[in-house]
Amino acid sequence: MLLFSFIVVEKVFAQNTKGSDAAYAIFKYEDFEKPQACGSSCHIDFYQQWLQMMMSQCYTHHWDEIEYFNLAVPHADKDPKVAEVKAGCNGCHAPVAFLSGDTPPPKPHLKPRANESVSCDVCHTVTGIDGDIPFNFNFISNPGRVKYGNRTGVVSPYHETKKSELLTKGEFCGACHNEKSPYGIWVKSTQLEWKEGPYYKEGIQCQTCHMPVTPGRNSLMGEEHDNIAQHLFHGAHDPGKVKGTVELRIHPDFRESESGEEIKLTVVLFNAKTGHKFPTGSVEERMLWLHVEAVDSKGKIFHLKVDKKGFPGEEYTISSNELAYQDMGIPLNLKDFKGIQRDGIPLGNRIFRMPYFDPQGRMTIMQWNTASLGYDYRFGPRETKIETFKWLIPDNIEPGEVIIKAVLNYQKLPTPVAECLNVPMEEAEIIVVNMHETKIVIE
Ligand code: HEC
Ligand code: HEC
Ligand code: HEC
Ligand code: HEC
Repeated sequence: MLLFSFIVVEKVFAQNTKGSDAAYAIFKYEDFEKPQACGSSCHIDFYQQWLQMMMSQCYTHHWDEIEYFNLAVPHADKDPKVAEVKAGCNGCHAPVAFLSGDTPPPKPHLKPRANESVSCDVCHTVTGIDGDIPFNFNFISNPGRVKYGNRTGVVSPYHETKKSELLTKGEFCGACHNEKSPYGIWVKSTQLEWKEGPYYKEGIQCQTCHMPVTPGRNSLMGEEHDNIAQHLFHGAHDPGKVKGTVELRIHPDFRESESGEEIKLTVVLFNAKTGHKFPTGSVEERMLWLHVEAVDSKGKIFHLKVDKKGFPGEEYTISSNELAYQDMGIPLNLKDFKGIQRDGIPLGNRIFRMPYFDPQGRMTIMQWNTASLGYDYRFGPRETKIETFKWLIPDNIEPGEVIIKAVLNYQKLPTPVAECLNVPMEEAEIIVVNMHETKIVIE
């Protein structure tokens, strides 16, 4: 018995140098502290912030539970090519379960420790990245008395502290925010996008925008500092973070026109806010689209359709009533599944997205089943794009002032997918990122 406990202790305190799949089942749940231990009497504010971030819910959130248990697990059981994801999803969504070898963990309502999702002790015991590029949970975990943070000389009555340069850098986030599918395709590349962009060059980290600093203390009994890293991690699930990301303005080539004439409307769109592409992360299911309409003086609405630019694969960036996502038929056990509506929005709008394709070349939202990617028509950080609309003024328009409105909408999940999988509609909520209006006069 004595010998046994010695071995366990030895393992906990020995530096684990394995990341990714090699780290499967090398620890036990007990090796990691519960977030309540950190948050109940010392880090009260960070704990409350953590409860509100998506990373405390990435095992329990409704859509995560549905995608894992209804699509990924049954798919992994049927198709050996993707079998690895049954455990692998948890490498990022429930790291404590993955590192303890619990696959699949009990469902969220049974209150397993997997429910802790990405907990304090997951992030604060990371000591390195296994390899040159962070991706697919290749962080090196070393749970125990030492908690790694962003300062030296921090004294805690409960644990030891050490400074980790890694924790203050975007590389750390990349271990979970870059993902390769079993087909070797980058299906998440937020950290890689950031690294290629202007913010990385300027030394602006993920933490700068997602963990803004303020004066204060990092625990109840901690010392005052002027740069305490707030644990907000606000992203796509915070409409306030998404709003205003892209700024846009619309203008006509002529201010006066008449029916039978054609006018051209130009929309200039500028990504002012994201440090990576927009949309990023779960790109397979994110939709960002531009809707332009004209309203005449009697209130009649005319929907304008975007001008084609002619690049290859452009059809995926213009809303249509094509059917897609046929590969969901495999895990859902639907024979000859014809698919569902691809976009579920008015036809002819420009969509800023990158389509993911299954091994048969059909669009998929099952990112682990992605064998190729389509044309990347998203906004890079600080990128500006121009879209044009030619409008043949119709006969049935009312003379007088016409208001032309450009609205940029964002949706985390296409409505037809949410409906098909019974995902609560809040996940498919449409957020207005920005809008602008201009006027013309019809004689
Ligand atoms: C210059 C500020 C800035 C930097 C730097 C930045 N972000 Fe963001 N991030 C944003 C904004 C604004 C949004 C909200 C719009 C959106 O969803 O993309 C966002 C959104 C996100 C989202 C949600 C995306 C989605 O569609 O679900 C994730 C995840 C994210 N960021 C992670 C990161 C990571 C990881 C890094 C570093 C590699 C990083 N961010 C760097 C500003 C930034
Ligand atoms: C997703 C990973 C992640 C999670 C989850 C997380 N943290 Fe952190 N934490 C960080 C990072 C990264 C920093 C350093 C930020 C920086 O300075 O750039 C940090 C910094 C801190 C600091 C020092 C802040 C300062 O500025 O002095 C404390 C204390 C802390 N975290 C406690 C907690 C507690 C308690 C929890 C759980 C309730 C938690 N963290 C959850 C990543 C995380
Ligand atoms: C152990 C894995 C892991 C690490 C490390 C990690 N993340 Fe995450 N992060 C996730 C997962 C999984 C989600 C998805 C949550 C969900 O299910 O919607 C997420 C979600 C987010 C979101 C919320 C997106 C939204 O939809 O609102 C932001 C922002 C974010 N992470 C930023 C960061 C930043 C910045 C870092 C580094 C300081 C980081 N993460 C480190 C796994 C991780
Ligand atoms: C390499 C780490 C990693 C792996 C492996 C991973 N995820 Fe994720 N997952 C993330 C991150 C990070 C996000 C958040 C991205 C964002 O905010 O756009 C995310 C987002 C999601 C979301 C979307 C939540 C939302 O914001 O709309 C679902 C659902 C999901 N993952 C399910 C899965 C399933 C199922 C698997 C296994 C097949 C899996 N994930 C594998 C890191 C990972």
